[in-house]
Amino acid sequence: MEERLQKILARAGVSSRRGAEELIRQGKVAIDGQVVTEMGLRVDPVLHRIECNGKPVTQEEEKVYILLNKPTGYLSTLSDPQRRPIVTDLLDGVTARVFPVGRLDYDTEGALLLTNDGELSQQIIHPSFEVNKTYLATVNGNPNRQKLVALEKGIELEGRRTWPACIKVLSAGSRRTTIEIIIHEGRKRQVRKMFAAIGHRVLALERLAYGGLNLGDLPRGRYRFLDRKDLNRIFSGKNPLYSG
Ligand code: URA
Repeated sequence: MEERLQKILARAGVSSRRGAEELIRQGKVAIDGQVVTEMGLRVDPVLHRIECNGKPVTQEEEKVYILLNKPTGYLSTLSDPQRRPIVTDLLDGVTARVFPVGRLDYDTEGALLLTNDGELSQQIIHPSFEVNKTYLATVNGNPNRQKLVALEKGIELEGRRTWPACIKVLSAGSRRTTIEIIIHEGRKRQVRKMFAAIGHRVLALERLAYGGLNLGDLPRGRYRFLDRKDLNRIFSGKNPLYSG
């Protein structure tokens, strides 16, 4: 059966669908020995030989789901030309070819999912599935109610409105304020940019949870494998961390 090339690559665990598009764009994918850069091409993986980075894309690896408590100072990419630490350096003993689900900035810490399941990754990242991501942001100063309401309703960010957010002030001070913010989008440096847009710099940022799956007592720098129950928690409606 013919399917879109990026879907086949994602299901084979090569990367997320978005990542697969990037690989195609970069000319890393070949069909029957011919490099393809055309997006949206439909291919039958049974009838054609698909290769990525010169390796055949056929084997269905067992799906693996990992929750890492990422420290700051690690990149959520699979390689870095500058040889800075990357999150997979922390996955001692994991042999599956997992990739991060979305990204956490170098200077952000907390919950990062890694998997070789491109389909699930897509569902968690894409805003249409409305998976909440809960962050703890420490910002400078003390944003007033009006500014926080603006963030909750959605603000214009780089020409596009943000989706509504849930915001709860956990501790307020004149020099710094700690705020829990729940969003279901994952734009680049979104939380930092949202606070910057109301005039407050994020001093520290931690992701606490994906949907109803939170870090629990997982120590910083450590990971654990997830089971089906954990995966269901990701998609469970209301985030237990949010009670406001
Ligand atoms: N928003 C940010 O600004 N940075 C992250 O790492 C995640 C969300």
